[in-house]
Amino acid sequence: MKEALEKLQREALTEIRKAKNKEEFLGIRIKYIGRKGLLTDLLRTLKDVSPEDRPVLGKLSNETKNLISLEIEKALERIAEKDKEGELLREYIDVTLPGRIFPYGRRHPVSQVMREICSIFSDLGFIVVEGPEVELDYYNFEALNIPKDHPARDMQDTFYISEETVLRTHTSPVQIRIMEKQRPPVRILSPGKVYRPDSDVSHTPMFHQVEGLLVDEKVTFGDLKGVLRYFAQKIFGENTEIRFRPSFFPFTEPSAEVDIKCVICGGKGCRVCGQSGWLEILGSGMVDPEVFRNVGYDADEVSGFAFGLGVERITMLKYGISDIRLFFENDLRFLDQF
Ligand code: PHE
Repeated sequence: MKEALEKLQREALTEIRKAKNKEEFLGIRIKYIGRKGLLTDLLRTLKDVSPEDRPVLGKLSNETKNLISLEIEKALERIAEKDKEGELLREYIDVTLPGRIFPYGRRHPVSQVMREICSIFSDLGFIVVEGPEVELDYYNFEALNIPKDHPARDMQDTFYISEETVLRTHTSPVQIRIMEKQRPPVRILSPGKVYRPDSDVSHTPMFHQVEGLLVDEKVTFGDLKGVLRYFAQKIFGENTEIRFRPSFFPFTEPSAEVDIKCVICGGKGCRVCGQSGWLEILGSGMVDPEVFRNVGYDADEVSGFAFGLGVERITMLKYGISDIRLFFENDLRFLDQF
């Protein structure tokens, strides 16, 4: 009987090694160690064995049963693990899916137009410079001929950091910072952020300006007109008509605001231009002699012009955008169009 047990064990282990799936392993288990299996059959012959040998053979047959059972358990576990792995793979890697496309980034429309403006003026020899956004009251106002407590301060609502420091309300303070450091001729362009506590469809508390300043001998208002007409036609198209409208800025004299013929109605008058047929794009003028004196220039020797334009406004007119807040909402459906 001992040989018979060993043979049964050998055969069972060989079958286990050859089996491939759960059903086959379960079949082996039933065949060898099931209630009506081969081992049970074999144990029936135990009664023919001499009483002294019975315990030994009984123990042996138990060991055989346990070994076969254990091997099958192990094999089943291995299969279960493999199945799980396969499932995970099937779940996470679907090779039939199309590849993921990473969206390309691009410049914000305001940045695009700011760069375009800078490039147009660079062609005319203007050098791009920058100044601080947290600015001294002196540069933002006083040196620009806007004294403390003067009504002209009301033109630009202001965020104060302290009594002497503000968030700059325009890029004009860069004019002063450059002229303090540099003798004429000066030909600079200064793009950047400016701040005013305003918020509606055409105003945001932060927006962008580009400042221009040209100082030399015998600069005239005619030069200002020529440069700004050239600019308007470059950015809005060759047939763009512009007009100069008398205005006031404390740091320029005379001052003019520049309008372009309405891009929506072509000058007939519509909602966008408030029936006037014209759209304002920038402020400008001849540098006030007082400003020259503040930076130590001789106002009898040199003259110059300055201008400041709102980048959001120009972008809105160029692309027909009706609400300035769209620029700052970061909605890709809007931004993707540029
Ligand atoms: N700084 C003015 C503003 O923001 C614009 C301007 C600049 C006007 C330069 C004249 C000359 O309103």
